Amino acid sequence: MASKQVLLVYGSGNGENSISRRVADALLKKLGVEPNVTKDLAVNPPTLVDENWVQARFNPNATDANKNALSTTNSDAAVEEFLAADTIVLAAAMYNFHVSGSVKAWFDQIAVVGKTFKYGEGGNPEALSSGKKLYVVVATGGVQLETPYDFLTPYIKHFMGFLGITDITFIDAAKGNVEGAQAQIDALAGDVPSDWPAFLLTGGQFEPTYKALYHSEAVVRVFNQTDTSMAVFQGDEIMTLLKWLQPGSDPTCQINNKTEFPSTEKAPATSFVAWENASAGLSNCTSVCVYVEGKIYRQNLAIEHKDGAGIENWLKADALESRKPELGKAEPSVNKCFTHHFSTFGAGVAKGENGMIPCAEATMLEQIKDHSNDVIISVWNHHSGIHEIFNGKTEIREYFKNLYPTFGDVSDMNAFVWDVDECATGKPGLAFLVWRSPKSGYPSAADSFVFDSNFMIQRQFMAEVHV
Ligand SMILES: Cc1cc2nc3c(=O)[nH]c(=O)nc-3n(C[C@H](O)[C@H](O)[C@H](O)COP(=O)(O)O)c2cc1C
Repeated sequence: MASKQVLLVYGSGNGENSISRRVADALLKKLGVEPNVTKDLAVNPPTLVDENWVQARFNPNATDANKNALSTTNSDAAVEEFLAADTIVLAAAMYNFHVSGSVKAWFDQIAVVGKTFKYGEGGNPEALSSGKKLYVVVATGGVQLETPYDFLTPYIKHFMGFLGITDITFIDAAKGNVEGAQAQIDALAGDVPSDWPAFLLTGGQFEPTYKALYHSEAVVRVFNQTDTSMAVFQGDEIMTLLKWLQPGSDPTCQINNKTEFPSTEKAPATSFVAWENASAGLSNCTSVCVYVEGKIYRQNLAIEHKDGAGIENWLKADALESRKPELGKAEPSVNKCFTHHFSTFGAGVAKGENGMIPCAEATMLEQIKDHSNDVIISVWNHHSGIHEIFNGKTEIREYFKNLYPTFGDVSDMNAFVWDVDECATGKPGLAFLVWRSPKSGYPSAADSFVFDSNFMIQRQFMAEVHV
């Protein structure tokens, strides 16, 4: 097998003292790969787009002098290096809330019509650089990633997505947090297989890949939001499901969001993926994976498919209802915590006679008793394409306070599924809840909760259509 081509790009002006550079080097070491090409953009800055460049790229009557300028400014070489790479590691320093000027200049050099993207029918841009894995190490002084002044990460996502690169892992060295970045790298290399979910979407070596990815005790739950049915898969049955979901090397498959959370002392590694695949009839799909020993131990999928044809074991209506475990266990357990959580949430959204939520603050305080101090809540809205992450109690207080009022009319609220896995030695507890509240603007929603051995919520993933 041909070895992977790795392109390493340093985007900081701070040479050997650069944090993003050090972390990028550590990442490559952990991944066990050597770069085939290394570009230090501060030492050899890409030239800015000038008249020669524009003429040579866009004018069919460009002069030889125009065209020669491309090779002397290394623009053609930059495109070739970029296209040849299977894996790209970009060390990105945040300068003035964005990428450094040299990184922007490099982006300008590699975005070339007819090479890295093209204009298709109707003048719509089409990506020509898909199938690459991109790691971006981001170092900042004071700005936290995914906050309003971080213009760097959304820009890189958009720009690279435009060229066709959607499998992007950001290594977060914001505020000089090298230890945090290193922990993320350690987890990447071990806990969450880096090729998930790529294999689902690219076909190929099914059986060996499946066996390498899934834990021997893996359970996969799938809820079809379209006809409110659920199927559960274990052992080799999981292959049946994967083959059904997997449409070969279908170009219409699109990953809209992919986030990995590394394991901590109390929480297992988890990943959260949103995708769609028009030609397989799948839309608004999410997958939450919980990893044990580096393999998928539990996977909760919420999908939309017109009828689920091709899968035998869908449970609907009464069959679905009867598999809901009884709630309200007295002793400390996942069941007890989930019961409390479920009922307090109900109190938060049920309005009183005056149409107001009674004591939203008190309800919120009661509700967040179920969450650990270092909980992470990750919310993906298929409708808006917005992904939000709330870290710790302070942020989730605000999240819940803002959430209750979005439930304007809960008269048609319904919970189709709640599934509870108690913790076992070395295994996290889980709950899968599928609900909707159409009159409040939630035509479908699914929550996956991951509990620690003290029955506290450590991770919560919410996949919603909120219009
Ligand atoms: C010119 C310049 C502009 C910067 N602008 C920002 C900024 O807008 N926000 C921020 O959080 N940090 C900013 N910083 C701090 C850097 O992001 C921080 O030092 C980071 O570690 C740089 O990455 P590096 O260590 O890989 O060079 C800036 C630093 C420089 C030199």
